Amino acid sequence: MSIQKSVKNLRKGRAAGQRNPSLYGFLLLSISLPLVACRVERPHSILDPAGPAADQIATLWWQMFWVYGVVFIITLGLLFLALRSRRRDGSPLGSRFVFMAGIAIPALILVGMLVLTLRVMGNLHASSEDFQVKVISHHWWFEVQYPEYGVADANEIHVPVGSMVRFELSAAGVIHSFWVPRLGGKRDMLPDYYTELYLQADEPGVYQGTCTEYCAGVHALMGFRLVAHEPKDFARWLERAAEPPPTPADSHLQRGQEVFMGSSCAGCHTIKDLSQGTIGPDLTLIGARHTLGAGTLDNNRGNLAGWIANSQALKPGNEMPLSYLEPEDLLALVDYLWSLQ
Ligand code: CUA
Repeated sequence: MSIQKSVKNLRKGRAAGQRNPSLYGFLLLSISLPLVACRVERPHSILDPAGPAADQIATLWWQMFWVYGVVFIITLGLLFLALRSRRRDGSPLGSRFVFMAGIAIPALILVGMLVLTLRVMGNLHASSEDFQVKVISHHWWFEVQYPEYGVADANEIHVPVGSMVRFELSAAGVIHSFWVPRLGGKRDMLPDYYTELYLQADEPGVYQGTCTEYCAGVHALMGFRLVAHEPKDFARWLERAAEPPPTPADSHLQRGQEVFMGSSCAGCHTIKDLSQGTIGPDLTLIGARHTLGAGTLDNNRGNLAGWIANSQALKPGNEMPLSYLEPEDLLALVDYLWSLQ
């Protein structure tokens, strides 16, 4: 439908006292948009910042929201006036008005916003770091390394509160992207090349992270958790994580370890001082993680058993094959893995 036809219909409808549903729907949507900022549980909201980088991004977002909101309302007002006007003589507004409202003022606003954006972008790159973490993305999971401490983990990143952390990001395979919405901006993870991102968490807590570049398959199930600890708790965690995993405390756990070593598990997964598989996530700290399958499921013994038995039903296309374990072996394996905390 052409614009003239829509306007004609709108006028016809107004003359007949009808309401235009699409116009009212549009107005309702515009009014309800600011409500997304209401304070509810929003693990992926940039409007609930918990660190200096996210703070600056949220401030910039609000500046854009108000400036463009005012522009939007003025534009709607002018549109409304134009629709109401019944004058047919085309009474020109004058080239001066067209120049000011159509070129000069928009250009001024856009340049102002560009300056604000560039300033924030410049500030996001910290000049020094307190701590460094390496993250490598794989076919729908994240490998995490603390190179200075000889600690490896997967799909979970531990950092101290109040420290500037430098993330060195890369990818094995296709391009992914790293994002912890409540802590800062996004950064692409590229094969054969590393990128960096600086983040700081101001409060202890568990922050949700996600892959934010479509990477085919189960991209939607590629997440991670970032756990921010008080500095002394973090030091304790790091010390614990650097130690060798506990040896099986009884014959049941011993059997679980034997199942792990005797089945295909050990070929794909690393457990420190035990196996060196690199296809799947490192399992040295599996019992302490918040999630399974890179954020797919909560980590508990039931979900762990389900994941081992048939992870394809939970996250189709991941690289873990089906396992055909006897129930007692599966139980022993689950308990052994659960003991790795
Ligand atoms: Cu990895 Cu999307």
